[in-house]
Amino acid sequence: MIKTVKTKPFDDQKPGTSGLRKKVPVFRQENYAENFIQSVFDCLEGFEGKTLVIGGDGRFLNREVIQIAIKMAAANGFGRVLVGECGILSTPAASHLIRKNAAFGGLVLSASHNPGGPNEDFGIKYNIGNGGPAPEKVTNAVFARSQVIDRYLIADAPDVDLDKQGKSKLGDMVVEVIDPVADYAALMEELFDFDAIRELFKSGFKMVFDAMYAVTGPYAHEIIEERLGAIPVTVRNGVPLPDFGGHHPDPNLVHARDLYEFMMSHEATDFGAASDGDGDRNLVIGRGMFVTPSDSLAVIAANAHLAPGYKDGIKGIARSMPTSAAADRVAEKLGIGIYETPTGWKFFGNLLDAEMATICGEESAGTGSSHVREKDGLWAVLMWLNILAVRRQSVAEIVREHWREYGRNYYSRHDYEGVDAKAAEALIESLRDRLAELPGTECGDLMITSADDFSYIDPVDGSTTRNQGIRINFEGGARVVFRLSGTGTSGATLRIYLERFEPDPGQHDIETQDALADLIDAAEMLTDLRACIDRDAPSVIT
Ligand code: G1P
Ligand code: ZN
Repeated sequence: MIKTVKTKPFDDQKPGTSGLRKKVPVFRQENYAENFIQSVFDCLEGFEGKTLVIGGDGRFLNREVIQIAIKMAAANGFGRVLVGECGILSTPAASHLIRKNAAFGGLVLSASHNPGGPNEDFGIKYNIGNGGPAPEKVTNAVFARSQVIDRYLIADAPDVDLDKQGKSKLGDMVVEVIDPVADYAALMEELFDFDAIRELFKSGFKMVFDAMYAVTGPYAHEIIEERLGAIPVTVRNGVPLPDFGGHHPDPNLVHARDLYEFMMSHEATDFGAASDGDGDRNLVIGRGMFVTPSDSLAVIAANAHLAPGYKDGIKGIARSMPTSAAADRVAEKLGIGIYETPTGWKFFGNLLDAEMATICGEESAGTGSSHVREKDGLWAVLMWLNILAVRRQSVAEIVREHWREYGRNYYSRHDYEGVDAKAAEALIESLRDRLAELPGTECGDLMITSADDFSYIDPVDGSTTRNQGIRINFEGGARVVFRLSGTGTSGATLRIYLERFEPDPGQHDIETQDALADLIDAAEMLTDLRACIDRDAPSVIT
């Protein structure tokens, strides 16, 4: 029985974002999730009888919204739904399932690295048939639809038992509850040299993987411990919890502090890694050596040929604009393309589909490849393990050798979270107004060589995306980028990305914040930052 339920638009929807991310109490309003899901379905054409993949990162509200999504998929005419057991699917695993099953698309329920729980964040994202986040064309249409929506369709049926694998029917639609890990693990076995990694673990190599009580727990237990033979204590915090144990499942130096401190201590293992709420981000730390995501991208690109799935070499590298230029020099040496895209994984989709890029990365701890259309935390960890297994050097040795060969990009991001949205916008606006007069001026000892507001023309479909961040370049390859986050759920988040190139890094490290001190001062001078947003210091430094 299909019910048509009357509804009214909500006034808090935004255009152009790849999903809906809000606090749980907002999502719990009557018809709220339903409105978004129906707005998505109303913008799609030709899905009748086709497959929809549904799953999430296990956070609070996951199961409830999955039941709604299944019943709405049935009422709207999908032929089959694939849903992860217990409602679990990591974002990269969902992307893989969409591709493997030639599904029409998928609904991924997550708020990524944001905290979960009754008063924390929840989200829904629609992915298209290539497995990647819906492009702006689709998300803008969904937004437009959400502004006028007046009804949704839902099957009047009992809940599906998500805790048991198997097939059932809901009206005319088939519901398959599947193992969330199996297909993804099989893909990883194709891409990486599991024998070599097993030998590495047999030789006494030890690692820890912090799943942060989030979705990668079951994946990491199966792949790293069961299949690769790492000792059973390797995976920490491996059971997904609806509130992630009260933590932010964000694998950075703030929220994965315990792992970082452990890896810097005497007890450190050879390798430490973590992933975020929905499993697409990664943190990689060697014994005594944190690897910045920008460096990780460059090292992975330079060594990818050591993994069976990439043995014929990579076609190109894509990085988001604020990501450091470390990967650019790898691309140059390999003689392959390098693409600089706006922030957000959806911009990599076309480059991957057109086989112009194989490896992609963002400074925000996202790395991935053409194997799926999302960034992939465990993939990055396994890629590192494959490299370590073949090269039999430590993480620190590999990174230092990389710097000797290519030079080093000192890199840091300063985030000012929850600032007044008007003040943050005014700061960006004021920089934008002064772009033409900046080149040639001095900021302390640094000379500005160029300044712009990043805009991107997609080389595949020609679409243009404007206003993606203010870039200020200085002599010698240093730069500061100012950008407002698009993913925060309260106030505005101002991100300042700082980068300095050191062609000959030598033997002695300079502490990153010290290496960037001139640029930190320049950012203050250029914007009168502290006064402008009424903050003394960044909320988070990564
Ligand atoms: C942040 C990251 C960006 C990433 C996105 C989704 O977006 O900076 O690289 O793609 O989360 O994980 P932002 O909040 O900066 O808009
Ligand atoms: Zn994520």
